[in-house]
Amino acid sequence: MNAKTNDLAALEADLSARIASASDEAALDAVRVDALGKQGAISALMKTLGAMSPDERQAMGPKLNGLKDRVGEAIVAKRAALAEAALEARLASEMVDVSLPARPVRVGAIHPVSQVQEELARIFGEMGFALEEGPDIETDFNNFTALNFPPKHPAREMHDTFFLKPDEKGERKVLRTHTSPVQVRTMLKQKPPIRMICMGRTYRKDSDATHTPMFHQIEGLVIDEKTTMADLKGTLMAFIKAYFEVDDVDVRFRPHHFPFTEPSAEMDVRCDRSGGQVRIGQGDDWLEILGCGMVHPNVLKNCGVDPEKYQGYAFGMGVDRLAILKYGMPDLRDFFGSDARWLKHYGFSPYLTAGLAGGIA
Ligand code: DAH
Repeated sequence: MNAKTNDLAALEADLSARIASASDEAALDAVRVDALGKQGAISALMKTLGAMSPDERQAMGPKLNGLKDRVGEAIVAKRAALAEAALEARLASEMVDVSLPARPVRVGAIHPVSQVQEELARIFGEMGFALEEGPDIETDFNNFTALNFPPKHPAREMHDTFFLKPDEKGERKVLRTHTSPVQVRTMLKQKPPIRMICMGRTYRKDSDATHTPMFHQIEGLVIDEKTTMADLKGTLMAFIKAYFEVDDVDVRFRPHHFPFTEPSAEMDVRCDRSGGQVRIGQGDDWLEILGCGMVHPNVLKNCGVDPEKYQGYAFGMGVDRLAILKYGMPDLRDFFGSDARWLKHYGFSPYLTAGLAGGIA
């Protein structure tokens, strides 16, 4: 009896040691099979109960059952401890330090036109201009008539207009030839004072290295009770300085004709063309940048603004051309060629905001 008890104690000590030292699930399972499996040591001892005398069985039964339960529980506890340790190890090895700086992946680029539009919106936004919008398909009235183009006037054809088929009422829409119709839309919906810009696509039948049938313009309009050519000049000079990031700029106004402004002018900026590059702000040359003028009283009338009380100025220029002048792409047609290599070369990182070093003066 004692010998058997000693045997049981030795068996339990051995099993406990093996359970404690099992380093993984497989080793632990091997112990389980050796102890409690069909051929296991404890199972074999349980089988001997049947051949015992009732007294013996009464003595051994509870001992064996106790052993079986304790070993079973020890295995369950060890299994849980191993699972916990495995999870801890995995968490430690897979830990991600979210405070590390991100590694930028440059998968796309901002098109120069979008970049320049951002810059323009920012410069004029800082000067208090609101951003307006209008559709690409315009009425003849907004694109021409309200802007004081006389009916049948050759100026309508001068714009190399894309006309759409007339509708049932005989109205012939156009692909807007300039962003100036957004002036009309703004004045019709909003009372002065007005201070707005609009940027967008414009269309003319034209195609060579400096012209594409679709291109982009920016338009500006200011209407108030006291607005002068001097305000126009000051605003445009501030714009040129900010956009080209130069401290000094010299401009000149050449008389011109636009139906919607009186007087009208084209503005040139002093530049240097030596070395095949255009440098704005210095030199002996002039670069035509934009058209502008004081809004024609007829335009104000056409848009429901009293020309006795209000005047204003307007200006318009090509966004693509502004991009070329600042960032130096040789051919405008490539802008719209959808060549990913071109975009990779001339595009801008999406991680940078409109990169203006100087801000506005
Ligand atoms: N709409 C003109 C064009 O496309 C540009 C222009 C000139 C706009 C003078 C203006 C302006 O607002 O006042 O050629």
